[in-house]
Amino acid sequence: MIGGQGVSDAILLYCRPGFEKECASDIVQQAALLGVHGYVRAIKDAGHIRFVVADGGAALQDHLRFSDLIFARQLIHQIGEIDNLPAHDRLSPIMAMIDQSGLRFSDVFMETADTNDAKSLSVLLRKFKVPLRRALEKKDLLGNEHLPRLHVFFESGTEVVLGFSNPRNASPWPMGIPRLKFPAGAPSRSTLKLDEAFQFFLAHPDEALVPGMTAVDLGAAPGGWTYQLVRRHIRTVAVDNGPMDSRLLDSGIVQHARADGFRYRPLKPVDWLVCDMVEQPHRVAALVADWLAEGACREAIFNLKLPMKKRYDCVTECRSIIEERLAKADRRVVIAFKQLYHDRQEITGYATRGRS
Ligand SMILES: C[S@@+](CC[C@H](N)C(=O)[O-])C[C@H]1O[C@@H](n2cnc3c(N)ncnc32)[C@H](O)[C@@H]1O
Repeated sequence: MIGGQGVSDAILLYCRPGFEKECASDIVQQAALLGVHGYVRAIKDAGHIRFVVADGGAALQDHLRFSDLIFARQLIHQIGEIDNLPAHDRLSPIMAMIDQSGLRFSDVFMETADTNDAKSLSVLLRKFKVPLRRALEKKDLLGNEHLPRLHVFFESGTEVVLGFSNPRNASPWPMGIPRLKFPAGAPSRSTLKLDEAFQFFLAHPDEALVPGMTAVDLGAAPGGWTYQLVRRHIRTVAVDNGPMDSRLLDSGIVQHARADGFRYRPLKPVDWLVCDMVEQPHRVAALVADWLAEGACREAIFNLKLPMKKRYDCVTECRSIIEERLAKADRRVVIAFKQLYHDRQEITGYATRGRS
């Protein structure tokens, strides 16, 4: 048991379908660092995995950080599983298990995996939402925002996993998916990647992205990432041999540099480096490390396009490239990686030297 009454020794993680193996490597490694051992239950393309603890589960609840899990969209501590929900009364067994856990909650998320198969469950979820919430309210199981969040994860119409997340150590979004609106003026859908990265990595985006700051966007064309900078009134050099959207150039705060992103350097240090070049991830990692080591930028957000095989190893190697380069330069930098919802066969990195 972890966390007291009625809580099982398992962790449920959501991930991008097809990345279950990487998500498994991630949790096994993070758990091992905390002295916790266990095994993974996963099905290919299912969009979620389970980590079942063999011993030492309490450390996971106390010390496992969602931000350290690169491939997980959500971190849920399991309360229990029900695999024979009767179609005529799904509510009673679910409420019985919740009651047994002895927990109260800030909110309830009804969820499925992010797969095509699971989409057929959306009608069921919609119908079930109000009765479940009413039942929780009736038993006074919903309280303030600091309480854990209840997750009711439907694997099928008859199988459900109940669990909870800590609102300070989990994704704030149902299914771990931010519902971002595509801005009408943006020239490419890639814009949502940088929008999500700002929201995910920056504790206070309004303080980190201030009008008048400067940025370089490597691999900028046609300008989806530059759009996110311009909309925050950040002066941007867009580096790409390809054409940029003319509306961005007309803004007066974008300069288009037709140059190789691996050779370009600004005359003066900039606040932000962003990089979405389709290039080998190790090369991009080394480039970002150079910029930070040389003091050419203070913060960086960069996309790493992953290979088809050994993707987890690739991420580990890229992190080492950056850490080793910065250690050599005696620069202290905080680095984080996440496979964001808008990332496909890729992950996003964030590195900061801190703000004064
Ligand atoms: C995925 S697209 C970037 C999309 C852009 N972030 C957006 O939101 O519209 C990748 C871009 O990287 C550029 N690119 C690839 N290698 C480059 C290099 N060595 N130097 C500059 N740009 C490069 C390509 O020309 C292409 O426009």
